[in-house]
Amino acid sequence: MHHLSLTLLIKLFRLTNSLTFTFFANPAISPASLWNRQDINEFKQNIKKDGSEGIIKVGHGETVTVRVPTHENGSCLFWEFATDHYDIGFGVYFEWTVADSNQVSVHVSESDDEEDYDEAAEAEGAPATGGPGDVESGGRIQTRRDDPNKPRQDEIIPVYRRDCHEEVYAGSHRYPGRGVYLLKFDNSYSLWRSKTLYYRVYYSK
Ligand SMILES: *[C@@H]1O[C@H](CO)[C@@H](O)[C@H](O)[C@H]1NC(C)=O
Repeated sequence: MHHLSLTLLIKLFRLTNSLTFTFFANPAISPASLWNRQDINEFKQNIKKDGSEGIIKVGHGETVTVRVPTHENGSCLFWEFATDHYDIGFGVYFEWTVADSNQVSVHVSESDDEEDYDEAAEAEGAPATGGPGDVESGGRIQTRRDDPNKPRQDEIIPVYRRDCHEEVYAGSHRYPGRGVYLLKFDNSYSLWRSKTLYYRVYYSK
């Protein structure tokens, strides 16, 4: 169970009045299901066929966070991913915040220090997915989020390195409530190698 200080609770109450019920209910978060598939070439071909949306170049030293809001008609998130040639770090977190839309968005940070791009800038017609090149050319303002205002996050799967250049890594998780899943693809440990990531997310009822 999570221990929240009283001041934090008051802040949360003020900030997210509509969410307090969720916070106090403090639901037990179910474990994720994880599995691997061997059809990695077919998987990557299918992602390519669907266009560039599911392909991200994760630069060396970078962490890419794919934010996937829960869907009002869904109850379970599914993800699948693979890379070319090299492994990548992967983990899943759940942020207790209500997203403005159902849009999946991609955020890049230079290192794993939680320095995210400003969300308002992200919302301005930014494509659902864009490579690091897009981020740089877009002239987005980078701001650090204020710590006291940061919504609570729960860890569902810790980040560690996966051999997703050999098999497709897939998983699912039952929504613990309304919020945003953070799929973290961590290449911060790599000094030289950028990784090409192919991914797909969807929900089920
Ligand atoms: C959820 O389902 C209802 C009923 O089928 C539909 O009207 C509504 O548009 C759906 N919501 C979203 C966000 O797709």
